[in-house]
Amino acid sequence: MSDSKMSATKLTHDESFALNQARWDEVVAIHVASPFYRVKEFLAGDDILLPIESREVGDLRGKSLIHLQCHFGLDTLALARRGAQVTGLDFSTRAVAAARDLAREAGIDARFVEGNLYDAPSLIAERFDRAYVTWGAINWLPDIKGWARVVAAMLKPGGEFYLLEGHPFALALDQLGSETIAADGAIGQSDPTAPLRPAFPYFRPEGEPLVFDAAETYTGDGGTLANTRTHEFVHGIADILTALIEAGLTLTMFHEHDACAWAMWPLLVEDADRMYRLPKGAANLPLSFSLKARKG
Ligand SMILES: C[S@@+](CC[C@H](N)C(=O)[O-])C[C@H]1O[C@@H](n2cnc3c(N)ncnc32)[C@H](O)[C@@H]1O
Repeated sequence: MSDSKMSATKLTHDESFALNQARWDEVVAIHVASPFYRVKEFLAGDDILLPIESREVGDLRGKSLIHLQCHFGLDTLALARRGAQVTGLDFSTRAVAAARDLAREAGIDARFVEGNLYDAPSLIAERFDRAYVTWGAINWLPDIKGWARVVAAMLKPGGEFYLLEGHPFALALDQLGSETIAADGAIGQSDPTAPLRPAFPYFRPEGEPLVFDAAETYTGDGGTLANTRTHEFVHGIADILTALIEAGLTLTMFHEHDACAWAMWPLLVEDADRMYRLPKGAANLPLSFSLKARKG
């Protein structure tokens, strides 16, 4: 959440979706071309999944799998290479088009569906052995209980859900110099030499967005975006777990990790395994978490 401004606002969820969709449409071409996503390496045969999901996702051979909020399908196709029959869903028209192009170029059989996460059960008739959600997905969703119901609805009885996300505690911190906080609470540029400190709420009324204004995307490819404004939503660990339990899923794994897929703050250091961590010698913090939950 660096390089952002935050303020509270009251808008409908549809207005939030429209803002966010425009932003996601705009960044697709930048992300496909970005070294951050390693599309070239993927096309050359590399396994682009990061070590955490590689280790945890399990044997997918012969499994049907839905990847919710699949972006331009890179991870979806990496899961197909592991033997899953994959379907990806995303609400960005350009992301879905890029995913279909990438599948064709890679020669991988995959289905990509355009639509809002909350419409998945009506848009897709099939039910799946596995559901998969990773890295920067649930912060775009205003209703975490509704999300969990969608996840449960998309699984067959006995099906398994895998979630890997930025840790909500870490997402509440930022590296800010005190001079960057305006009188109205708007938060300015992150200062790379500043200490980490609480910057965003961990507890927030359900459905109330944080409004961010950022002209660059997280891949660090530079360039100024036209759609700078986004709405994101805070979901604490208890809210996520409670939503999954109430949706009828049984938690079978919960892990916290000292690493994240992106540089959530300037002080994080990229390791040889492509994961970002606090510098050696600093106290460690949970930067991401993962879980598995089973239906029935
Ligand atoms: C950070 S990306 C997910 C990254 C993913 N791990 C990957 O494979 O790169 C978040 C995605 O969520 C999608 N998204 C955001 N809100 C959505 C919604 N309400 N319904 C469907 N997709 C949504 C965006 O279009 C974007 O592609």
